[in-house]
Amino acid sequence: MVRDGKPHYEHRRDTGIPGHGTKSAVMALSRMYLTDEEIRCICWHMGAFTGKDLWGGYAEAVKKYPNILWTHQADMVASNVNGI
Ligand SMILES: [Fe+2]
Repeated sequence: MVRDGKPHYEHRRDTGIPGHGTKSAVMALSRMYLTDEEIRCICWHMGAFTGKDLWGGYAEAVKKYPNILWTHQADMVASNVNGI
């Protein structure tokens, strides 16, 4: 969304879908087709910044789709380096 000529983002808390990564994937799937790899990349885009209880699932997902690591890196660059 653009507001006053600048990109504008809002944190939606009313989706009723738990889990940041899962919620992101579900929202994207409601708008477009995604491959299994793309779904996993979105679900795990937070990398190890999830609950410790999810680390095993994260490691298994990375073994199957190493691209998850690059998606996480891109997310970190966007959010923590470029401030998006
Ligand atoms: Fe995120």
